[in-house]
Amino acid sequence: MIDLNGKRALVTGGTRGIGNAIAARLLAQGAQVIITGRSESGAADAAKALSRSGGSCHGVALDVADFAQVGAVIKQLGKDVGAIDILVNNAGITSDDVVMRMGEDAWDAVLNTNLKGSFACARAVIRGMMKKRWGRIINITSIVGSMGNIGQANYVAAKAGMEGMTRTLAREYATRGITANAVAPGFIETDMTRAMEDAARERLLAQVPVERFGAPEEVADAVAYLASDSAAYMTGQVLHINGGMLM
Ligand SMILES: NC(=O)c1ccc[n+]([C@@H]2O[C@H](COP(=O)([O-])OP(=O)(O)OC[C@H]3O[C@@H](n4cnc5c(N)ncnc54)[C@H](OP(=O)(O)O)[C@@H]3O)[C@@H](O)[C@H]2O)c1
Repeated sequence: MIDLNGKRALVTGGTRGIGNAIAARLLAQGAQVIITGRSESGAADAAKALSRSGGSCHGVALDVADFAQVGAVIKQLGKDVGAIDILVNNAGITSDDVVMRMGEDAWDAVLNTNLKGSFACARAVIRGMMKKRWGRIINITSIVGSMGNIGQANYVAAKAGMEGMTRTLAREYATRGITANAVAPGFIETDMTRAMEDAARERLLAQVPVERFGAPEEVADAVAYLASDSAAYMTGQVLHINGGMLM
């Protein structure tokens, strides 16, 4: 049984999709959970809905692409609720196009949110984890970080970069009781994949041996394990959850 009582988790981008399912799962295991979204009302409403099943969930507005804001918000959280034990870098966006048409704005937006945002959050929580000599950093990457994907040079670079950063975090803080791992989902039913055209969905489904997209809860199960004491000897790894699409 995974027991996260007494642990405080920060899940970036917890307002919907995979992040929301992760927040629900960590709450169910007894953690105090803080979720973030870009708008104050979005984060507050999602936190209120999550709290209905019991447990302590707070929502805060945070744009993870804003490096200074990340530092300030996590510092304030430290004063208001205490240091973060479990960080789940989940906030992510896509802005797809083939390389020859992808503009600088699309590159910067995706790298700044997915990769720089994850770095900023990890940097801001590490000191508190070191003091406790316990911490969990879980980076949500993607199957495409290993496979590449047409139209996603920015997203693929960000996710592969997050996996490299995960291995460095694992090495730098292993002796302090802090683990860092990545969870790389395949195609999961969320707003992000619902935005895809039917033909693209069909093409992808044909490549998935279990013949369906995954559910956000199936990613959340893996995150709960990695956040637990049971996963203390697992660090620097990428856990793939993709219905067999990549093996
Ligand atoms: N769905 C998939 O098939 C799939 C597959 C592999 C990996 N992933 C990864 O899993 C993670 C979650 O994906 P999802 O499908 O659940 O996405 P989603 O449904 O589009 O939700 C994205 C979440 O990220 C938040 N967010 C976006 N930009 C942000 C920013 N700058 N600062 C703070 N929060 C921000 C959004 O919050 P607000 O809109 O409220 O601001 C929302 O909560 C992403 O990292 C994604 O790359 C998804």
